[in-house]
Amino acid sequence: MCFYGANDASWLVQTRTGHWSRILVSDKDIEHAVAILKSGGLVAFPTETVYGLGADASNSEAVAKIFAVKGRPAGHPLIVHLADAVQIANWAGEVPEAARKLARKFWPGPLTLILRRAPRVSDAVTGGQDTVALRVPSHPVALQLLARFGGGIAAPSANRHGRVSATTAAHVRHEFGQAIDCVLDGGETDVGIESTIVDLSGAAPALLRPGWIGPAELEQVLGMPLAAPAADAPRAPGTLAKHYAPQTQLILMELDLLMELAATLTRVGKRVAALAMTGRRPVHEGLTWIAAPSDPAAYAHTLYANLRELDEAGCDTILVEQPPQSAEWMAINDRLLRAAAGAPARDGT
Ligand code: TXA
Ligand code: MG
Repeated sequence: MCFYGANDASWLVQTRTGHWSRILVSDKDIEHAVAILKSGGLVAFPTETVYGLGADASNSEAVAKIFAVKGRPAGHPLIVHLADAVQIANWAGEVPEAARKLARKFWPGPLTLILRRAPRVSDAVTGGQDTVALRVPSHPVALQLLARFGGGIAAPSANRHGRVSATTAAHVRHEFGQAIDCVLDGGETDVGIESTIVDLSGAAPALLRPGWIGPAELEQVLGMPLAAPAADAPRAPGTLAKHYAPQTQLILMELDLLMELAATLTRVGKRVAALAMTGRRPVHEGLTWIAAPSDPAAYAHTLYANLRELDEAGCDTILVEQPPQSAEWMAINDRLLRAAAGAPARDGT
């Protein structure tokens, strides 16, 4: 990322995906956010993937507030965000060589490592499991917040449980209103989908959640293939079949069928929202249409904002063009499949 025209209150940042993002966070805002974290409050902050809803990871009461505000079922573990890889030793009981290799290559960045936990890590954070999720994010506001705070910040994505993650500060406010103490506005997040999660607590490294960093890149650094998650792999709600879902029913399909269905449904008076990569935009009464980028990085960057916009269009159905099945679309297809499975029930199933 490069910084231009910085003053105390506003920064323009050009991100990896090439768009410009305005950061509205001053040193004073960071101080204010640190004070809130230290007094047990919640702070939403930008990361390069999605916004996080953070609390002091060493304060179980503060961590409990995250679950209450998010409506997240108890026992679902959280990621602990750190300012740098040196801090791994405070949170993990064992740090295998594979973890060091991945951290060296991908941190700060959109990768979460699951490691055996250190004794001091509370059950509130790990959901009572003997592992902990760690990540050093690369967003400058997240890094500044973490460095000034000094400790670990436990943070899930800043959205209500099972819903679409937030990629702007406005999304976070829309999700939670006055229920959180502070939202740091770091502009649109860069990657747009949640971090890749690799489990290094078992016999062989396993991919628990696909993300922007793909299996081939991970395997190259690890020097070995990734295993499929073991049957007794740690629980990861992001891996539940139903997750990341808009409230409107979402259906994934090939473009030809989408075009046909959009025409048929609108003809009988249904309101249809569509997300497709073609430049051929059909015109029908009652059709809301978003043309998605055909480049996977740009598609991921805009995915959740697009799903929110379509969800809010008041339609009966959202139709989404099935992206290609190639490796570079893996994480996007994963999120779309879960969105198509619908919102989770209140018990998180
Ligand atoms: O990009 C991201 O990872 C964002 C930003 C804010 O860092 N965070 C995020 O958090 O997506 P969340 O809570 O929405 O998803 C984290 C996933 C969940 O599926 C959780 O179950 C899993 O990480 N997880 C956390 N701790 C774990 C553990 N000890 N073992 C297995 N999975 C774990
Ligand atoms: Mg989440």
